[in-house]
Amino acid sequence: MNARRPLIAGNWKMHETIAQARALVRALRALTLPSGVDVAVAPPFTALAAVAGELSGSSIALCAQTMHERDEGPYTGEISAPMLRELGVTYVILGHSERRAGCAENDAAINRKVQAALTHGITPIVAVGETRDEHSAGQALPKVTHQTRAAFAGVAAAAVERCVVAYEPVWAIGSGLSDEPASADRVMAEIRACTTGLGDARILYGGSMKADNAALLLAQPNIDGGLIGGASLSAASFGAIAECARTRALT
Ligand code: 13P
Repeated sequence: MNARRPLIAGNWKMHETIAQARALVRALRALTLPSGVDVAVAPPFTALAAVAGELSGSSIALCAQTMHERDEGPYTGEISAPMLRELGVTYVILGHSERRAGCAENDAAINRKVQAALTHGITPIVAVGETRDEHSAGQALPKVTHQTRAAFAGVAAAAVERCVVAYEPVWAIGSGLSDEPASADRVMAEIRACTTGLGDARILYGGSMKADNAALLLAQPNIDGGLIGGASLSAASFGAIAECARTRALT
């Protein structure tokens, strides 16, 4: 099997009530998604159970947007890996820049979450990316390689191989303007090379990936898929992006 089978994951962020989430999944299920491409959706916690039910019998995987590093305890408002497993969650986004910036998630905590997810059989999608200032200062590579090494510190190479990294330049998220495909690919090649095990792992691009730029991004050697925000909230555009990964699945 292709270890780097394309993965298109939709991060719904804080969008979709339960009723809206059900409707979105039904619309997605009505599409013919390309074979050979893994597809996942990450609804908000409140809609996970409903979406799990809607996904029953489909090949679309369920993803959580974050989780706590501990299995249980006095952590008000948090959700643990065993709770996610119970709902059928198989992927979890860890270290998204919106959580690093808005919820003070640091590299050490993200590393503990990666280990916890792996312990419970959930595949981490570790998000890394530089800010606009770091980008302008030519600091993209040191920033993302530092974040990547920190996230996987102490994780065996065989386990790292099963993980996913999402390169999401912070300045491209929600901006409508993605990174240039060749430039994103260069950064992603460095991410792939900076930690043992990532050579065979999937690395996704995220940051204004849309139906009209996905094909060019997915044609790059190091871009194994996408972590999609805004464009994942419409079944048609999300399906069109997944379709762009079909060619990659054949290579
Ligand atoms: P956009 O696709 O809306 O830029 O969001 C990307 C993202 O943050 C996915 O996690």
